[in-house]
Amino acid sequence: MKILNGFEADAIEQAVAALTAGGVVAFPTETVYGLGADAFNPYAVAKIFEIKRRPRFDPLIVHICSMDGVFDIAEHVPSLAIRLMERFWPGPLTIILRKKDSIPDIVTAGLSTVGIRMPSHPVALELIKTLGRHIAAPSANPFGYISPTRVAHVVKSFKDRVPIVLDGGDSQFGIESTIISIGSDRVMVHRHGAIPIEEIRAMGVDIEEKKSNDMCEAPGELPFHYAPIKPLVMVNTIDEVLRKDSSFLGFTEKKARPVSKHIRYLSRNGDFREAAANFFSHLIDLDREDVNIIYAERIPEKGLGKAMMDRLKKAAKKCVS
Ligand code: TXA
Ligand code: MG
Repeated sequence: MKILNGFEADAIEQAVAALTAGGVVAFPTETVYGLGADAFNPYAVAKIFEIKRRPRFDPLIVHICSMDGVFDIAEHVPSLAIRLMERFWPGPLTIILRKKDSIPDIVTAGLSTVGIRMPSHPVALELIKTLGRHIAAPSANPFGYISPTRVAHVVKSFKDRVPIVLDGGDSQFGIESTIISIGSDRVMVHRHGAIPIEEIRAMGVDIEEKKSNDMCEAPGELPFHYAPIKPLVMVNTIDEVLRKDSSFLGFTEKKARPVSKHIRYLSRNGDFREAAANFFSHLIDLDREDVNIIYAERIPEKGLGKAMMDRLKKAAKKCVS
């Protein structure tokens, strides 16, 4: 795998050449790293599924570099969608809309809808713009594993299987985009993510949240998504951690006499932004320690805390099922 500095024109050109030839390239976004292919080339998109070992029933997000891109992809763009695009794009909001026939079925796993987002990372935007085509991309992690927020995470997972990764630095948000669909007068939340739903509600928009027990119904929203390899158990405080062979993911730093030696705190003083940016990379680090179990402290479920708790709950489910 070649690691190229994504801010250099020559790197973008090499990546574009690979994509044009039907290849797959890993690239940075402001949320997590993505594994991209030309969205209109079904053979190239199929490679993403093979490389990630991702089930074919799990649809991909199409990434665009300007607002007009949405009209190439979506059959109909409701005015509420346009308001949201104007407010949050470029940025970590994915909007599910009815798709045009030109989007290959493999991208959407046969659904009649497609998830679309315009990332804000300059390297992602430059890549899509120079390619001149939209890019279908999931997060650049093996299916079911924690999403990558650093180039090193991508290298570790896909060293021999992906020819190029563009280095764009550590992901700014560190957690995936918020995914919504649009009802006649409201927004339905499919995945909590980097845009807290409070920010959407603040626009005067009604929000319908899926209850956590039907969170796993839609394709891709599987219970074991985002899971580390080690079992994960949630606790209220570090005092509940009694096993020496464990690691601990804490929300805010506290004075404690921990039993475990492997401890990471997401934030010094409870800052959600900082916590989200550290979330996946700390989880990956703790998973790689020589331990048998990971304990994670519950995070207040507001703002970005909701997105992090969703991922912890899914990771925790893996060890009981
Ligand atoms: O921040 C992000 O969204 C990152 C970066 C790379 O853009 N991408 C990402 O993609 O997280 P992925 O494939 O790991 O997660 C996308 C989720 C999947 O759970 C998929 O099922 C859901 O989006 N999704 C995509 N299209 C959908 C659709 N038409 N209807 C319902 N869910 C959809
Ligand atoms: Mg993913």
